[in-house]
Amino acid sequence: MIQIDVITLFPQALAVPLEASVLGRGKGKELFDIRLIDLREFAFDKHHTVDDTRFGGGGGMVFKPEPLAAALDSLGIDYGAIDPARTRIVLTAAGGKPFNQELAVKLSLLERLVIICGHYKGVDERILQLYPVEEVTIGDFVLTGGEPAAWVMIDAVLRLVPGVMGNFESAIDDSFAEDHLLGAPVYTRPAEFRGLTVPDELQSGNHEAIRQFRRLAAIRKTLENRPEMLETADLTDDEREFVKKIKNEK
Ligand SMILES: C[S@@+](CC[C@H](N)C(=O)[O-])C[C@H]1O[C@@H](n2cnc3c(N)ncnc32)[C@H](O)[C@@H]1O
Repeated sequence: MIQIDVITLFPQALAVPLEASVLGRGKGKELFDIRLIDLREFAFDKHHTVDDTRFGGGGGMVFKPEPLAAALDSLGIDYGAIDPARTRIVLTAAGGKPFNQELAVKLSLLERLVIICGHYKGVDERILQLYPVEEVTIGDFVLTGGEPAAWVMIDAVLRLVPGVMGNFESAIDDSFAEDHLLGAPVYTRPAEFRGLTVPDELQSGNHEAIRQFRRLAAIRKTLENRPEMLETADLTDDEREFVKKIKNEK
């Protein structure tokens, strides 16, 4: 079972979306445990101060190191002897390394994941020097706080834990799976809608025809939306010819 501890100034901002999605779905199944840790409870002055102005001037407040260190210390983790195959500490940060499906898979295999949600200008840098914290971004844009990023990461990680999703098999051919392609377009009933018919191959019942159709449709979609991904995708010679053909059609 994976234990996820989220250190946040706004536990309520995460409680509702988590409850409505992964937390609610996996509840009672003992597949994971999520604890929302209120950073303010670790601020020991009478005003429960968690932030202060920046050394060197400039606008924006910074998370003070003491409350965050106290919150991390409360988790009972031996930070000096951490095994990154079992435990990782992630700090949500616009300037971090990118969160992607590969990282989601790695995090889903952990026993313990700690996520720190930043706010304001960010976190006092000494936290990163004192604890084995990895900065992770969910994209090249700036959020007000790390809570949406934590939700995104938890959702992507927990859906990979067997038993959390009703249909785990469906995760195998999602975008960014092992083949490094985007997911193929999907259809459901009715077979005809406003004059548009579901491709014959998908209705054929022929597994090989369906597999091939989906594979080429995934390649086509990847070429349209994320052409750079095809550079590292594992394509056969025929598939490379297919890519050339579509490019020439344009
Ligand atoms: C206003 S941002 C701080 C931006 C920071 N001063 C910088 O220049 O990178 C406040 C907090 O939101 C979170 N955050 C913002 N953008 C994010 C992103 N793209 N991915 C993950 N977390 C993000 C981080 O926790 C950050 O500390």
